[in-house]
Amino acid sequence: MPRPVLIDTDAGVDDALALLFALQSPELSIKAITTVAGNVGVHDCTLNVLTVLRLLDLPASPEVTEGARKPLRRSLFSAPEVHGTDGLGNVRRSLWGGRGEGPFRRDAVNVIIDRCLHFGRKLTIVAIGPLTNIARAWNKNPGALKRVGRIITMGGAFRVPGNTGPVAEFNYYVDPEAAAIVLNSGLPVTVVPLDVTQELVLMRTELEVRAQRKSSRMAQALVKFTKSYMQYHSATEGFSGGYLHDPLAVAVAIDPACVQTERVHVDVECAGRFTRGMTVADFRRKPDRKRVSVDVATTVDHNRFFKLFHGRLWG
Ligand code: RIB
Ligand code: CA
Repeated sequence: MPRPVLIDTDAGVDDALALLFALQSPELSIKAITTVAGNVGVHDCTLNVLTVLRLLDLPASPEVTEGARKPLRRSLFSAPEVHGTDGLGNVRRSLWGGRGEGPFRRDAVNVIIDRCLHFGRKLTIVAIGPLTNIARAWNKNPGALKRVGRIITMGGAFRVPGNTGPVAEFNYYVDPEAAAIVLNSGLPVTVVPLDVTQELVLMRTELEVRAQRKSSRMAQALVKFTKSYMQYHSATEGFSGGYLHDPLAVAVAIDPACVQTERVHVDVECAGRFTRGMTVADFRRKPDRKRVSVDVATTVDHNRFFKLFHGRLWG
């Protein structure tokens, strides 16, 4: 029986890869896709999700609804230099104009609450952007969110440097208050941080070979929209490829054994002048029963992940 999943996304390039991965995985049944401002503005995120859905001949498209235009308390900090000004490598218009689309249903929070109430323990939320929508849903109806089976959030950096300044990971940097609320809610949360996602790189050469072999509309689009993301990594990280941050969060929803986790209390820095968004955890000690703990992924099974990712993406 496929696992009911809600994906909350700030629809950048690695989000698009994660969506294509999830939508072609029979283990998952995507019950809704909600968008949140992060990599780019939320309207672009929504258009990017609709563009990705059009790359697949899906029998039925999941509901797509728009969410937060900005973090809970801060102005939006986005990443056009990484994902393109449109969030899809600056090629969305060539893939699908999307002109005239919208306005979209803007009630991501109510959809999240609705799916939690409807599917309860069966539901997994895969949050691959800032946690603004999830925190708002928790604030609005904690009873509903407490019914969820698992929340898998791509975010944080524990034993590795950040990717947004020296200590913070992007999703939790953008909305540290939302991350603090969700990680300290007591909900069943699995954190998939840079510690593991930065061990997974899709190299440009491999992508092009696999895409050529597949030679589908999706494969051709994938080569196009990942180009600038990979050029960014080439310029900043020294390899021609891209980190698969969000696809790993999807893989954990399909097969939790892709990672090993440690249970620990996590604080998210919200007041730090130099450490905004930093995730702070004391792995030295056993979890303190009096404090809320979450499961933090600390190692990743590379072969298990790539077998799943490539198997589902290219068939
Ligand atoms: O730090 C990486 C995360 O931030 C990924 O989810 C990426 O899409 C951005 O949202
Ligand atoms: Ca993302």
